[in-house]
Amino acid sequence: MTNADFEKLVDTSDEWITTRTGIKERRIADDKMTSGDMAVEACRRALEMANCPREEIDLLVVGTVTPDYRLPSCACVVQEKLGLPNAVAFDVVAACAGFISGLSIASSFIESGAYKKILVVGTEKLSAFTNYKDRNTCVLFGDAAGAAVVAGDNGDRGILSTYLKSDGRMRPLLWAQVGGTANPYTPDFQFNGSDKIWMNGSDVFKVAVREMADAIRKVLDKAGVKASQISLVVPHQANIRIIEALAKRLKVDMSRVYRNIEMFGNTSAASVPLALDQANRAGMIKEGDYVAMVAFGGGLIWGAALVRW
Ligand code: UT7
Repeated sequence: MTNADFEKLVDTSDEWITTRTGIKERRIADDKMTSGDMAVEACRRALEMANCPREEIDLLVVGTVTPDYRLPSCACVVQEKLGLPNAVAFDVVAACAGFISGLSIASSFIESGAYKKILVVGTEKLSAFTNYKDRNTCVLFGDAAGAAVVAGDNGDRGILSTYLKSDGRMRPLLWAQVGGTANPYTPDFQFNGSDKIWMNGSDVFKVAVREMADAIRKVLDKAGVKASQISLVVPHQANIRIIEALAKRLKVDMSRVYRNIEMFGNTSAASVPLALDQANRAGMIKEGDYVAMVAFGGGLIWGAALVRW
C-alpha cells in the first residue's frame, strides 16, 4: 500500500507521512496468507542460506503478536508446515522486540549447551491487527517475516552480547485492549478499533529513542566494544526520525545505520531480521564486522544484540 492509498482511506497526505515517519510503502499479505505462512518462507530461505538440514534444528523460536491461532502457538504451526521433526517450538510475545528476544534466548540456550541449532524468526501480519480508520496508526504498519539460523561453532564470531528490558507500567501507550481475558469479545461487540493496535505515538517515540540508545550501550559495554567500532546499526524500523535521533545519541553517522522503512513501514518483530537480510544481501556486512541490532515495542519492551559477523 502506498501513501496515496492512505489518502483515500483517512485524512492524511503523502507529505505528512513522508516527513513525519519516512514511510512511502508497506507490503500487505493477501487475505489467506498467515503470519505462519510468511515465517515458513523466511525459515526456508534462512535454512537454505545456512546450508542447514531441517533435521538439525532442535529449537524454533517465533517472535510474533499476530499468531495464526489463539491456541496453539504460531511456532507449532511453522514447525509442522516447515517440517522440523527434531525441534521444540514456542512463541515469544515481545512485539517489535520479538526477534531480538529470540536471538537472546537462542544465544543463552547455545551457551548452556541445551540446543545446538536454533531457528529464530520474526513474523507479523499487522494488517490483520490495524485499525484502518485511525490515521494515527494505520499508515505505519506492514506485513513481513525474517529468520536466522543460530549455531555455536563460529569461533570468536557470532552473538557477543544481548540485553533485554521491559516496563509493563507503560503498556497503555501501545496496546490492543479488547480480545484477551481482561476485556473479552462479547456477543454484541461492535467495531470501534479497541481490538486493534492503539498507540500514543509521541510518548512511545521519546522512550524509544532513549532506551534503544541505552540498550546498544549496554551490549557494547558487555562485549568491551566501542560505538566507533560498530560497522552497521540495524535498528527496528518504526520511524525515520527515531532512527536519526538514535544515531545522533550514539554519535554514529547515518551511513552506518541501515534503513528500509521507506519500503516496508513498521513490521514489528519482522523489522530487524528483514533489515539485516537486506543489508547482508546488499553486501553491506563483511566478515569480522560488528553489527548492532536494536528494537523497541509494545509492552513496553526493548533490547539489543551485538554480533561479530
Ligand atoms: O514499533 C513500536 C514502537 N512504535 C514507535 O516507535 C512509534 C513511535 N511514534 C511515532 O513514530 C510518531 O509519534 C508518529 C509517527 C506515530 C506520530 O508522529 P508525531 O510527530 O509524534 O505526531 P503526533 O502524534 O504528535 O501528532 C501530531 C499531529 C496530530 O494533530 P493535532 O492533534 O496536532 O491537530 C495528529 O492528529 O499529526 C496528526 N496526525 C496525522 N496527520 C496526518 C497523526 N497521524 C496523522 C496522519 N496524517 N497519518
